[in-house]
Amino acid sequence: MGFIASQIKKAVLAILILAQLLLGQECFSQVSIYTTEQEMKHKVDQFILSRVEIPMSCLQTLLDSGYYQTALYLFEEYFSQIPEKLEESFSLVKQKANNIKRDLDQLQINLMASNKEVQVVEPAFQWAQSKSHVFLQVKLAMRLDAPACLTCKEEIVKIENNTFYMSAFGIISHTPVRFKLNFSLCHPVSIVDSSWNYESVGTYFFSLAKMNNTQLWLNLEKDSNRKVQIWWDMREKHQNDMDDWGKMKEEEADNLEKQKREEKKKAKQEKKKARLEQNRIKKEAELERKKKEEEESWTGWFSKKIYGSD
Ligand SMILES: *[C@@H]1O[C@H](CO)[C@@H](O)[C@H](O)[C@H]1NC(C)=O
Ligand SMILES: *[C@@H]1O[C@H](CO)[C@@H](O)[C@H](O)[C@H]1NC(C)=O
Ligand SMILES: *[C@@H]1O[C@H](CO)[C@@H](O)[C@H](O)[C@H]1NC(C)=O
Repeated sequence: MGFIASQIKKAVLAILILAQLLLGQECFSQVSIYTTEQEMKHKVDQFILSRVEIPMSCLQTLLDSGYYQTALYLFEEYFSQIPEKLEESFSLVKQKANNIKRDLDQLQINLMASNKEVQVVEPAFQWAQSKSHVFLQVKLAMRLDAPACLTCKEEIVKIENNTFYMSAFGIISHTPVRFKLNFSLCHPVSIVDSSWNYESVGTYFFSLAKMNNTQLWLNLEKDSNRKVQIWWDMREKHQNDMDDWGKMKEEEADNLEKQKREEKKKAKQEKKKARLEQNRIKKEAELERKKKEEEESWTGWFSKKIYGSD
């Protein structure tokens, strides 16, 4: 008798476990995007009627899948009726409600931002080089020492023979911002041998392969006078090339200085020349005036003599 009873108990237990497994599967897998809220509610009704225990994960699944009415229904009709499950299920629903509210708020902020004009700014960047490569560090920020935009995503990265273009978009303090870096490279690079990568979030590392891989570039940009920050941290990696380049830059600075000095000297000479010329003109005018005066006084005297009048 005891043996049979225990067998029956085992069988009942097995059925219960099986039912729970099936229910678990029902909760998780048989929901498609075509299942309506009405159908979900109907399913929940069936579960409740079948009197099998419904796991908390079913409630979670409903909430995660967006069947909020059904979730509320399951909570009210089932979990809130079981004292030991009330608290856990309540906090589950409440937490989800808070998350939804937060997501909606964020959505609203983004919508508001999308109404505003997009601000276009150039990201901060610096560069270094070896004989064979140009290295660029681009940071989605206004300055290199400012934190990068973590939510910005790159849109386009386009490197061609002589052109570098990259853009990234994001929302910074409720304002849509497009970071845009577009310039002509001083010399061509090979696209196939170049690469880029994330250094950290919002910071990019470009390694551009020079077409002429034995040539140090004096500047990064073609036809541009602006000073691009030099990435001196790369010096250790490419000591010799960076040192050579340092010398090139020094030479350039020296030449500039020389040029400036020569220009100054020239300007001084020009000024002197102009002053001499002015003096000469002045003297000439003076002479002219004197001559005229003399002439006039002579004519005066002469006419007095002849006509005897003033
Ligand atoms: C890049 O340069 C190569 C060789 O000079 C040329 O054939 C190609 O058309 C250029 N590509 C672009 C996009 O300018
Ligand atoms: C990049 O700059 C060049 C030269 O100023 C310009 O012709 C080109 O349209 C720009 N590219 C983009 C995608 O803005
Ligand atoms: C590469 O650069 C070096 C150094 O500037 C130069 O002497 C050489 O002529 C260049 N080669 C080509 C193919 O342009």
